[in-house]
Amino acid sequence: MTRKILVTSALPYANGSIHLGHLVEYIQTDIWVRFHKMQADTQCFYVCADDTHGTPIMLRAEKEGISPEQLIDRVWNEHTSDFSGFHIEFDNYYSTNSDENKTLAQSIYRKLRDEAKLIDTKIIEQFYDPEKEMFLPDRFIKGECPKCHAQDQYGDSCEVCGATYSPTDLINPVSAVSGAKPVRKESEHYFFKLGDDKCKAFLTKWTQTPGHLQAEASNKMQEWFESGLNNWDISRDAPYFGFEIPDAPGKYFYVWLDAPIGYMASFMNLAQKLSAVSGQPSAETMFDEFWKEGSSTELYHFIGKDILYFHALFWPATLKFSGHRTPTSVFAHGFLTVNGQKMSKSRGTFITAESYLQHLNPEYLRYYYAAKLNGSMEDIDLSLEDFTARVNSDLVGKYVNIASRAAGFIHKRFEGRLIAQEERRQPEEEELEIILLGSEEMIARAYTERDFSRAIREIMRLTDLVNQFVDQNKPWELAKKPEQEKRLHQVCSESLNAFRILTIYLKPVLPQLAAKVEQFLNLEGKMGWQDLKTYPADAINAYEHLMTRIDPKQVEAMIEANKATLAPAAEPHSQARHAEKQVNEVQPAGTSIAPIAETISIDDFSKIDLRIARIVNAEHVEGADKLLQLTLDIGEGKTRNVFAGIKSAYAPEKLIGRMTVMVANLAPRKMKFGLSEGMVLAASGDTPGLFILSPDEGAEPGMRVK
Ligand code: 2FM
Ligand code: ZN
Repeated sequence: MTRKILVTSALPYANGSIHLGHLVEYIQTDIWVRFHKMQADTQCFYVCADDTHGTPIMLRAEKEGISPEQLIDRVWNEHTSDFSGFHIEFDNYYSTNSDENKTLAQSIYRKLRDEAKLIDTKIIEQFYDPEKEMFLPDRFIKGECPKCHAQDQYGDSCEVCGATYSPTDLINPVSAVSGAKPVRKESEHYFFKLGDDKCKAFLTKWTQTPGHLQAEASNKMQEWFESGLNNWDISRDAPYFGFEIPDAPGKYFYVWLDAPIGYMASFMNLAQKLSAVSGQPSAETMFDEFWKEGSSTELYHFIGKDILYFHALFWPATLKFSGHRTPTSVFAHGFLTVNGQKMSKSRGTFITAESYLQHLNPEYLRYYYAAKLNGSMEDIDLSLEDFTARVNSDLVGKYVNIASRAAGFIHKRFEGRLIAQEERRQPEEEELEIILLGSEEMIARAYTERDFSRAIREIMRLTDLVNQFVDQNKPWELAKKPEQEKRLHQVCSESLNAFRILTIYLKPVLPQLAAKVEQFLNLEGKMGWQDLKTYPADAINAYEHLMTRIDPKQVEAMIEANKATLAPAAEPHSQARHAEKQVNEVQPAGTSIAPIAETISIDDFSKIDLRIARIVNAEHVEGADKLLQLTLDIGEGKTRNVFAGIKSAYAPEKLIGRMTVMVANLAPRKMKFGLSEGMVLAASGDTPGLFILSPDEGAEPGMRVK
């Protein structure tokens, strides 16, 4: 019977870039998924999405002068391009701000409320920003630490002395959004009754059932149970970017309620796409097969240890009491340190996916992470020196070397053909292949158990054996003796076949390299796990270089490029990823200006076509709080329509006739109010004010700015 598996990675927030810390999880999951997809009789889907709701995203969009929808669209594009750059192959990458997610979140909520009777309301008191007219999450309140009296600390913990407290304990609290003094205000909140007896009974059993959680995670759960399960506050008051709660005007689902439902929504969206192909079951049938209570398919969530609470308590309870299946397993991993320390902007080790890809091959990192990951919740360290040494010695020095030593002879001396099966080797040499194939089960088990480091150790042990075989038989010497022609053919064929087996073993980790090897060995589509024992029959293609060594200078350049010039203010708080804990997303009022962005080349810069433009018309836009509609003359009788977020700083009539600078080759963007065909340049900092740029007198519309 076919195994059917659905796998997810945690949904990244839609307001930050993917960095090497995030990639531990996506690479881990992708390797696991690829391994399963290589198995015959296994259907495996991997879905994910951007996590788009919540206060930080709402405020970030506002700060940028765009709508949350525009922000999440832009970030979705960035995230998908980062992921594909690292060969993370999702079957679907969606968004929590989708119709499917809204429908599912609301219907799950109704089931919890009406059928399971697990929703309650309660009036609670919270800090409120009277200027901004919004309730403030803990992370958006700053003040003096009640313990060590350090200034400028967040509402939940002190970064100086490490104390944790509630925002009401802060001395002289201020809103980090507006700088106003917050007031206490009451409002009604909606709660999921996690403390209800049936919920407690279910969770106690679920978290302790072997297989659901790693042992270290079950133990953690036990501690949490002992300290008591509180009801979970699932509502937030307007203004909030999210889904409205049914029958509760002005109340929104807390982002963590609809985020994991995003796993289901992404799968529903995939099912809709798949069902469009004729002969396929309907989307609802596919959806139910994976999500309905009693489903016989498998569901696995890969997450970071910081969000275990949500996935091991709230999420199984949400599923269980809304008539859905619960996860087969939740797999948590640890954080990433770089050179033994927390990633740091000042040290240049807070490395974004995009920046890494500008300097290094993604498969180096996939390999290194695989060599480090062991399926536990321990943190892993990216030691850059070890990274360089290991990739160069294992991948280039040992593995790729096998192919490069044998391929030339096969290609030039034997018309690209491996020796025929019946003439393959001297009888005692079967042993090499037997040893290689003998490790199959062990490697497969290591992949299944997410102990990739064990798999890599074994594969490298085998790689050493193959190199020893080549060293002992010295094909370069055989090649000099005509009477040794057949022996040369045997030895090179044996090593290329061994290389093929090693490549299948490494394929989940190094998909692109494996694709090149498939092409080289002329085995496209014939390198699944079930092909391990099949000796190649067809002629191979010419060998082309498979992988180059890392030059330590590339690593240094990457670190330099990631060094922030204004380090302290930009230092990330931690890798904790709860919405309220993300401090970097919105710079509180009164902090320094943004750090200088990553270095770009002159070629990058010259891609931006900046032009002098005359503002020939400027108007208010009905229904838009921040935008003005500008008509720009860019010379030669051409005009451009641009929506600019500068209403707070300029009356339209003041702008007409003024010269400015615009980005003329920005892809046109469809906005709610019409098409925007470019962007006007303006400066802004953390202090109020926006300043559009103007050229000196004499500049003419259409002149290029360089
Ligand atoms: O911690 C985070 O980055 C969250 N955005 C993860 C959400 S995972 C899932 F539950 F949606
Ligand atoms: Zn303190």
